[in-house]
Amino acid sequence: MRTVDLIQQKRDGHELSTEGIRHLIQGYVSGDIPDYQIAAWLMAVYFQGMSSRETADLTMAMAESGDQIDLSAIHGIKVDKHSTGGVGDTTTLVLAPLVAAAGVPVAKMSGRGLGHTGGTIDKLEAIRGFHVEMTRDQFVQQVNEIGAAVISQSDNITPADKMLYSLRDVTATVESIPLIASSIMSKKIASGADAIVLDVKTGSGAFMKTPEDSIKLAQAMVEIGTRVGRETIAIISSMEQPLGYAIGNALEVKEAILTLAGRGPQDLTELSLTLGSYMLVAGGRADHEEEARRLLEKLLHNGHALEKFKQFVAAQGGDASIIDEVLKEEDGDGSGSLPTAELKAVVQAPQAGCVAAIDAEALGRAAMKLGAGRETKESKIDLSAGIVLRVKTGDRVQSGDVLAELHSNLSQEAVDAVAREVQASIAFTDAVPDSQPLIYAVVS
Ligand code: URA
Ligand code: CA
Repeated sequence: MRTVDLIQQKRDGHELSTEGIRHLIQGYVSGDIPDYQIAAWLMAVYFQGMSSRETADLTMAMAESGDQIDLSAIHGIKVDKHSTGGVGDTTTLVLAPLVAAAGVPVAKMSGRGLGHTGGTIDKLEAIRGFHVEMTRDQFVQQVNEIGAAVISQSDNITPADKMLYSLRDVTATVESIPLIASSIMSKKIASGADAIVLDVKTGSGAFMKTPEDSIKLAQAMVEIGTRVGRETIAIISSMEQPLGYAIGNALEVKEAILTLAGRGPQDLTELSLTLGSYMLVAGGRADHEEEARRLLEKLLHNGHALEKFKQFVAAQGGDASIIDEVLKEEDGDGSGSLPTAELKAVVQAPQAGCVAAIDAEALGRAAMKLGAGRETKESKIDLSAGIVLRVKTGDRVQSGDVLAELHSNLSQEAVDAVAREVQASIAFTDAVPDSQPLIYAVVS
């Protein structure tokens, strides 16, 4: 098989065979096929697209390019949740204990944050003592014993995807639905999920800016899942504004604890219940979403979800006493024991009006500048830093009302500069804006 012939076929709009796709991926990973040929093929895919069969073949070729995690020693249907990336997205911290408390095993590999989006692994490390590395046997054992474990993604998951992504990044071929869909799904499949619930974010703070594009991406991923025998459901959810109020590692842990205690922000609670309901149905724990939702609501209100979080934190070496401390602090009694920043600054409303929009991406970048995120993979982060919003879209404010609290250990000048950016990222209107949906669609 000649690589140049495969490039030509795709250039001319033809479908490649399973063997053809495998030849390209295996050849690229082994070093037999150079960057320039793969780059040419990627550009041809960008213009010509791929059939759903080709997309599924590409997904499997990438999934098979590195470690494939075997979770068969874990009892039950392993359902993984994946978000396409948002700002202040605290759902995994809520869902892991919540879904585990309902009896569906959560064996999750998560990543660290990069750029304006955070990562679950960093957030968990804000809990004193929490460790995210363990052997496969320990991982399996913990899930079988308490129902949940979250570890840092192994370095050798889908090396083909890492190589292709780097190449796409410098050849203007990232924005291709079959390439994005296969990239995401290959990682989930290699991580051993039996079923996958996708949270496809849409809006200003998301990778996909419109519901239409998000639905197309969701359909491509659901189609891959169906073709390779992993039940996949996608929820299209809003990232027009950050989820919840907190953006930043320790700040989001606190928000997750409040949510698990039934006292969380409305949008974070609602999205967690929605995603969790589909996870319970996929995990065979409920026959339909309404039944699943009732069960999850009960677990948030009877303390079982919070109790499961304590067990999970303790099992991974974390100090579970922080959970009650956070709740006491919220009630004005005690100081909490998550990392806290030296400096708190407030951002005030420059005018009276209704909040028309909160630019999630700008706030994600602002939180990063305060120390909460990484500019490059090598940057060090400050687990205490971040932003706590005091408003959501549609809220009415008076001039001078507090819009957000900034937490940082940087200099006053640096924080002041970020404060101006945060203020500029919140827009006002005189009229009450139309309320925007949190969930746009479900694709299955
Ligand atoms: N996220 C991924 O994992 N892959 C892509 O290609 C785009 C977003
Ligand atoms: Ca949040």
